[in-house]
Amino acid sequence: MAQEKTYKIAVIPGDGTGPEVIREGVKVLDAAAERFGFKLSYNYFDWGGERYLKTGDTIPKGGIDELRKHDAIYLGAIGHPDVTPGILEKEILLRIRFELDQYINLRPVKLYPGVWTPIKDKGPEDIDFVVVRENTEGLYAGGGGFLRKGTPQEVAIQESINTRFGVERCLRYAFEFCRKRNKKKTLTLVGKTNVLTYAWNLWERTFYEVAKEYPDIKTDYAHVDATCMWFVKNPEWFDVIVTDNMFGDIITDLGAIIQGGMGIAAGGNINPEGVSMFEPIGGSAPKYTGKNVINPLAAICAGMMMLEHLGEEEAARAIENAVIKVCRDHLKSLSAGKMGYSTSEVGDLVANYTKEGVEL
Ligand code: IPM
Ligand code: MN
Repeated sequence: MAQEKTYKIAVIPGDGTGPEVIREGVKVLDAAAERFGFKLSYNYFDWGGERYLKTGDTIPKGGIDELRKHDAIYLGAIGHPDVTPGILEKEILLRIRFELDQYINLRPVKLYPGVWTPIKDKGPEDIDFVVVRENTEGLYAGGGGFLRKGTPQEVAIQESINTRFGVERCLRYAFEFCRKRNKKKTLTLVGKTNVLTYAWNLWERTFYEVAKEYPDIKTDYAHVDATCMWFVKNPEWFDVIVTDNMFGDIITDLGAIIQGGMGIAAGGNINPEGVSMFEPIGGSAPKYTGKNVINPLAAICAGMMMLEHLGEEEAARAIENAVIKVCRDHLKSLSAGKMGYSTSEVGDLVANYTKEGVEL
């Protein structure tokens, strides 16, 4: 008999409710693995606020190279109320994204049936698009500095770094993704060409140049401010969106709320040639920690994206169907404490439906 395929997964449960949602995610991943005949071996990393407060370490020496030995990374949440904002985010989350060159942040915005959306008169047929966010450059690259810090003449400069190389590889990924998705076959560049005339000139020129190689993909452009309006007014216009790091960060929180909130929104930090990392988009939600009330579906959906990325498409579809079933037939709300079920009960439901298979 052929040896079962084993995937090596680095797990970083992280802070706050991270460990609780990751526990449910692993439960569901194991259910899928069992049914579809592959194995997952997990290595746990205790990186996060607690470790930092005890040891002063964010990522220990050699830590990034340890991650490189895995097929994928599964992350809970980073952010601790007793640690100055920015330290853990920059030294753990952003450092992994940058050092592993995860240059795409892939964020699907999909409203499942029965899930409440704040957008009146819109349903699952209207809210189904994907944001491709550049993940290694822009304002996140860390360019800038202070002049005369702490004086009345202080200057603070924060630079947006956009390289032809970085922009082009992101755009190419988005065109390929749009083709493979095969829905409306429309790629919308979201930017700010009317004001940020250097960065967005580069993006726009590169976009239309690369587009020539994809005659089957329709191209569109929207300013980022107008995009926010259209997410609310006409979300059905979108198929695949490609944008820079900062705009992608901002519009995907809006995307998350129209798909039902942080309880369900997941994303992948992708290096198509390297090791990718999957995570719920929401934070560590410290006030719900340890209460068994947080919604694990975002982490579960991140796990689903991870399996899809590893090539286990069937297993990913089984998890998605289980999530749809649980949203439609069980949960009262996707908000923490209002689901009508505890965190672990939601995990059990999804795991069982994943194992059994569901008819929708
Ligand atoms: C996200 C988060 C991060 C980001 C923070 C925590 C650094 O908001 O993943 O969207 O800004 O990218
Ligand atoms: Mn964000």
